[in-house]
Amino acid sequence: MKTGILGGTFNPIHNAHLSLGKAAKEQFSLDKLIFMPAARPAYKDPRQLVSFEDRMEMTRLAVEEVLGGEKNGYFLSDLEFKRPGNTYTCDTMAYMTAKEPDTEFYFIIGGDSLMWIDEWKDPADIVNKCTLIVAERGDTRMDILKKKAEELRQSINARIEFVNYDHNFVSSSDIRKKIRLGELKNVALPSSVIEYIDKKELYGCCKDGFYFSPDEIQRFTLEMQKTLSPFRFQHSLGVSYMSASLAMVYGVAVDKATVAGLLHDSAKEIDENEQERLCDEKGIDLTPVERSAKQLIHAKLGAGLAKDKYGIKDEDICNAIKFHTVGRPAMTRLEQIVFCADFLEPQRDFKDKMSMPLRELRSLVFRDIDKTTALILKETIDWLKIKGSEINPATYETYDYYKVFLDNTDAVKD
Ligand SMILES: [Fe+2]
Ligand SMILES: [Fe+2]
Repeated sequence: MKTGILGGTFNPIHNAHLSLGKAAKEQFSLDKLIFMPAARPAYKDPRQLVSFEDRMEMTRLAVEEVLGGEKNGYFLSDLEFKRPGNTYTCDTMAYMTAKEPDTEFYFIIGGDSLMWIDEWKDPADIVNKCTLIVAERGDTRMDILKKKAEELRQSINARIEFVNYDHNFVSSSDIRKKIRLGELKNVALPSSVIEYIDKKELYGCCKDGFYFSPDEIQRFTLEMQKTLSPFRFQHSLGVSYMSASLAMVYGVAVDKATVAGLLHDSAKEIDENEQERLCDEKGIDLTPVERSAKQLIHAKLGAGLAKDKYGIKDEDICNAIKFHTVGRPAMTRLEQIVFCADFLEPQRDFKDKMSMPLRELRSLVFRDIDKTTALILKETIDWLKIKGSEINPATYETYDYYKVFLDNTDAVKD
């Protein structure tokens, strides 16, 4: 059995990836070609990654539509998602060869990846377990690639082949840029993937127009004013306006952000024991940490109230409310917006509790929301440590995901 593995962030999968998979399968007479989306690639900046589930689903749709899926020998694997931590090719190959010792594996990589394979974890181990099939991407000259391949054959005994395919100079980053600029219909993607992106409003392709009428937003505002103290109401307005501004920068529906910001603390001033009781009544799961640190409960209860009391059906809005206190790994843009706005809205004053001026974060959040998210989490953790307060493990989980942005500044093209 000969099996090829085509890994990648597939953010999103595009026609050149599909053409590469098909060309490799045909030119090397592979029995199987597995598309394997990377969960969290170690060498790429994850700031522009949409969720693994979305990338997996787009890959499934594309492989089915363009290549005919499993009946034609094209498969999909979520192996890289199941493993914790960063995604390394050597671990993938170790797993695959242990699972199928009699299979001959081919690992397909872009020409650019071949050029810096020495930086990968354990390149000698990788080439020991598979033949590398190198795709020319049009951005690295063939003679340089051939020279590099020869060096690797000599130095680590690599088996390296080249594949010709129709790359059309497409890149995922160009596609994402076009989508952000409203050109979703003109990108080189299978139609099922275009539909999916459109439906889920990925990559900032939110539609013009409104999900909420001005009347509805006014009704929510009046209700908040009635329910909350003047201080909390002003804070909610601040979060709402700041969320709306950030939504303009990050390609999120502005009225959704307005509503999420407005409603995020709707449960905050309910007595904490009553909050707990209401959660139990509504069947909202609370963790032991939340039951002991009851000030966290209002986020989950707020999401419940958004649904039941305010009739919000949009899951992203409800999740933005639910995760506004501690965040979660790989937040959606709207979730991140409300998380940051809650910390940075104009009336917040944390100056005694922070190691960096709030004004710096308020400026940074409009340029780099991922780095701002990481800094907010770091400041929060540091402050809680100084106070000697218990820290919610969920805060650490979120921080672990975002801390990579503290030193990572430039998005990498894929
Ligand atoms: Fe809150
Ligand atoms: Fe808040």
